[in-house]
Amino acid sequence: MRLLAPAALCLTAACTTVGGEQADRMISPVLTTAEARDEYTFARPEIARVTHVDLDLALDFRAQTVGGTATLDIAAASGAQEIILDSRGLQISGITAPGGSQIPFTVGETIAGKGEPVTVRIGDARQITVNYTSGAGADALQWLAPQQTAGGEHPFMFSQGQAINNRTWIPTQDSPGIRQTWHARVTAPATLDVVMSGIRQGDAQDVGGGRRAFTFTMDQPVAPYLIAVAAGDIDFRPLGPRSGVWAEPATLDRAAAELVDTEAMIDAAEGLYGDYRWGRYDMIVLPPSFPYGGMENPVMTFLTPTFIAGDRSLTGLVAHELAHSWSGNLVTYASWRDGWLNEGVTSYLENRISEVVFGDTRAGQERALSYAGVVEAVEELGANAPGTALRTPDGLDPLDYNSTITYDKGALFLHTAESIVGRDRFDPWLRSWFDRHAFQPATSAMFLADLRENLIGGDAALEQRLMLDQWVYGTGIPANVARADDQAFAAVDAAARAYGADRTLDAQAWTGWSAAEQMRFLQTLPQTISAEELARLDRTLNLSATGNTEVKFLWLQAGLRNRYQPVVPQAEAFLASVGRNKFVEPLFRTLTEQGEWGQPIARRIYDRTRPTYHSFTRGKVDRLLGVTG
Ligand code: BES
Ligand code: ZN
Repeated sequence: MRLLAPAALCLTAACTTVGGEQADRMISPVLTTAEARDEYTFARPEIARVTHVDLDLALDFRAQTVGGTATLDIAAASGAQEIILDSRGLQISGITAPGGSQIPFTVGETIAGKGEPVTVRIGDARQITVNYTSGAGADALQWLAPQQTAGGEHPFMFSQGQAINNRTWIPTQDSPGIRQTWHARVTAPATLDVVMSGIRQGDAQDVGGGRRAFTFTMDQPVAPYLIAVAAGDIDFRPLGPRSGVWAEPATLDRAAAELVDTEAMIDAAEGLYGDYRWGRYDMIVLPPSFPYGGMENPVMTFLTPTFIAGDRSLTGLVAHELAHSWSGNLVTYASWRDGWLNEGVTSYLENRISEVVFGDTRAGQERALSYAGVVEAVEELGANAPGTALRTPDGLDPLDYNSTITYDKGALFLHTAESIVGRDRFDPWLRSWFDRHAFQPATSAMFLADLRENLIGGDAALEQRLMLDQWVYGTGIPANVARADDQAFAAVDAAARAYGADRTLDAQAWTGWSAAEQMRFLQTLPQTISAEELARLDRTLNLSATGNTEVKFLWLQAGLRNRYQPVVPQAEAFLASVGRNKFVEPLFRTLTEQGEWGQPIARRIYDRTRPTYHSFTRGKVDRLLGVTG
């Protein structure tokens, strides 16, 4: 592996900064191996790269744009004359050097999905200021009308950078291997609070015109997709000495109650993988149009409200986003082809945290659900399908990955390695991997090389037993897989068999089951069920009334799959209030699979709900229904 040599890139403070006040900032190296190359950036970091971003921005709710200036610190090879930034639709009005003189730049041709390169003729300048606003309909930003919030009185906005959306609101090099520190001053209408994925500096300042300014800083170099902002009528509630939650006032009590285990999760993660290195761990619960379950924005995880079940049964989500503070944020994939390195490793960490905080039973069940998912996905895709490899092979689009492979097969790889090596050796190694690569980009090859060097040593027998290359580059499920305990759901599986055999249902048992158990039961129901049977299931188990969105989702799927008319209004209400793609896309898919019955229903519902969805969810469902946006 080759890191950019400091000499070649002039990485010392003297030649990277203009003022000198930034001399202490950490500069993270960029990898230059073919394996680390990111095909989604226009940047050429080996010539010139951004090391620090300073934003001064206004949130304009009327125009639905973000605009102002971005001042970029640049490290460049000696003699470098230009730097290439990533943009998708940015409206750039000018770029200046520190003295204020204009710097020439050109905006290249747009490539679908990727956007356009902005080539800036920096000459000797090593700091530039870009004057700009985001374009119309910037993909990273969602602007919500008051009626899309719980309070119903104030607008709301949030950004979602991952994967390559931050180039629609920040003019920088938008590639996960080009880490940057950042600082931001953001103004918003005075009725709103602003949060970002950085540590807030002091109180909001009144700046006149009915607006306030908020200041944030991130002193650790992060992948630029991790810069995030949200603004709304939100309040804060502490959860522990270093954690807390932001949410709309109407949601805050329920959110805080659901999140009481947060400090225990941080402690558990630290016990396994070393100090939490980001200072605070806060969360914001967003309105239900947030297209994901969660997003691991540093110091400020973004969460869907659909994880609030009232019984803490879906807080594995929080363990997951917290775990990214090690896998993903501390050590980050250099290219999107190594998705598993962030998400698979995180899913493994999530399960280890879950085990400490919730115990063996819950963790074992979560592992069993995940394992069953991998087996099913590999059956469906085919054991030789290139898409079942952890590292996305050439020829496949790494942004169009199968999450069961990336997340669950990725986690299964680590569970398998752990069970072969033993926790006493595997845990310290994984912890040391995070330490050795902290605040740096990484690749699959680096992960395997590190394992070989620091764990396997020269032990040829162990090397053979681990089957590392098969796991990362091979397809299907390698022969050495550590199977999940097939007794994890013994009672539920027996109940599902009884139901399959003679339609026996035990309402009392159902009520006593955990969310994971209820989900397992619904997942193992026969595919075809009559309307009478669905009505009886609903009556007996009270499925329509469940407050658990994961359970509700499976119930709606079962109903729609069987063209069960009474479930349609429920599905419509659900799709009108929830924008999380994990639920929305599959429900629309099930409807479209139901031909003449389902397709008109899908179109009717989508006509109404489409404007309420985030661009990510909208893009997915547009594709499914053949709608051209
Ligand atoms: N980083 C992901 C979300 C993401 C992935 C956004 C890829 C954009 C592109 C986040 O950590 C995540 O995995 N969320 C899951 C949580 C679940 C696995 C517990 C989600 O949103 O469902
Ligand atoms: Zn994740």
